[in-house]
Amino acid sequence: MTQSADKPVDMKDIVALCKRRGFIFQASDIYGGYNGFWDFGPLGTELKNNLRDSWWKNMVVTPPIGPDGTPVSIVGLDSAIIQNPRVWQASGHVGGFNDPMVDCRESKARYRADHLLVYTNDGDIWPAFYNVEDAADIPRRLKKLKQNEDISTYKIVSFDQISADDYAKIIGPDTKTAGTLTEPRQFSMMLDTFPGVIRDEERKAYLRPETAQGIFTNYKNIIDSMRVKPPFGIAQIGKAFRNEVTPRNFIFRSREFEQMEMEWFCPPEDHAMWFEFWVDQRKKWWESVGMDANKIFLHDIEKSELAHYSARTIDIEYKYPFSDPNFDELEGIAHRGDYDLSKHQEHSGQKLEYFDQQENRRYLPHVIEPAAGLTRGVLALICEAYTIDENRPSGVYLNFHPSMAPKKAAILPLTAKEDHVPIATKLYLDLREEFSVDLDIKQNIGKRYARQDEIGTPYCFTIDNDTISDQTVTVRERNTMAQERIHMDKIAEFLREKMKAV
Ligand code: GAP
Repeated sequence: MTQSADKPVDMKDIVALCKRRGFIFQASDIYGGYNGFWDFGPLGTELKNNLRDSWWKNMVVTPPIGPDGTPVSIVGLDSAIIQNPRVWQASGHVGGFNDPMVDCRESKARYRADHLLVYTNDGDIWPAFYNVEDAADIPRRLKKLKQNEDISTYKIVSFDQISADDYAKIIGPDTKTAGTLTEPRQFSMMLDTFPGVIRDEERKAYLRPETAQGIFTNYKNIIDSMRVKPPFGIAQIGKAFRNEVTPRNFIFRSREFEQMEMEWFCPPEDHAMWFEFWVDQRKKWWESVGMDANKIFLHDIEKSELAHYSARTIDIEYKYPFSDPNFDELEGIAHRGDYDLSKHQEHSGQKLEYFDQQENRRYLPHVIEPAAGLTRGVLALICEAYTIDENRPSGVYLNFHPSMAPKKAAILPLTAKEDHVPIATKLYLDLREEFSVDLDIKQNIGKRYARQDEIGTPYCFTIDNDTISDQTVTVRERNTMAQERIHMDKIAEFLREKMKAV
């Protein structure tokens, strides 16, 4: 862990840096923002592209070596965001993709029932709190509310476990009166739209809530066109939309986000082996892009908590500053069985079974699905990289792995005058053919280093008078601030080496 141990990182500081340095902005910022939507600025876009490209390379271009010593087979896909609405009926999203919601009649606020915590005791007034992220904060909040009471007598119970007879005792999070909360009601998370000129219920379509279904509906096309056979995978990266009730924690839970999903189709009897394989591979990949293994937790989801399609799921969780000391989801790896293919077979009337000629048998493959958030991954990378260091002018630097850093290096002429600028410009023009680099000419060198620290540029190459005589430059390393001299001819090779994943 690189963050200074005695100073917990505050999400507010991370959000502020993301805005100040062009990583992430509120969507529609000049109109006051738009809840649940975010725009990626110039550096955020480069960071997101780096994470996306690394995933694509690891899945599609150079997929991992399988248990038999040969590379596994995975092909890519880019399916439409809006599909025939029957897709979502078959998948169970229409009618099933709901969260139970509780309304407050007085404040008009709406809460997810399973995120509403009620403090019950033998008395008649039970306070409720919403989205309490930090368990350590609970006694303090309760104490504030119940100043002279012994708070040790209270139990914390999720709203959905409370009998309707007791609702009258509960004081909602945003009111002072008891009994204003309604019974939980189902609330659809599907965002709908109406393609074409006529807007009526019959023509209602949906923005996809996951990229996965586009893969299942193309499974047959890919089997027929690509000479693949189980076990093999189909990978897709793209936008997904969910009408989240409470978008929160910056880009962690938003209404528009990006996913990186791979559906691995295998013979049913091999599912357990492939499940273990993909959990292991996915954890290694997150570490290869710079995530600290000590802040990653594999959460085997309890049977009662599993999604309707899943026989087993392990979530890869990360210790975000807002979840610390706990962890929250980054990626889910699910054994979906043959749930999706059998549903699409039933609803479309198309045969989706695979015929194995060698074994002369027909079967619906089972699916192992590593489903990661790309935008959530960007948040995890930024949280991981955010390092407080009061000994440097910026007070903070982003410790990105060089392969993820939006800018791999900055070329800095020591002064804007003299002969430094043409040499720096030439070096910049050469390097930019291969690397994303910055040429920064103005301001004093300290200010320019500080800016590069804040955007996580791992190396700065400074051109000075010695460069003119011996063609060497100073290379400054971001984390240690150590400086050494290196010949200009060696810079490209130097960067190439540093870019290699851990
Ligand atoms: N196809 C399976 C599926 O979509 P999921 O756990 O609902 O599973 C997969 O989503 C990943 O997508 C999550 O682990 C998370 O990283 C990301 N994700 C889901 N909802 C999100 C949201 N509202 N905002 C940002 N990322 C989200």
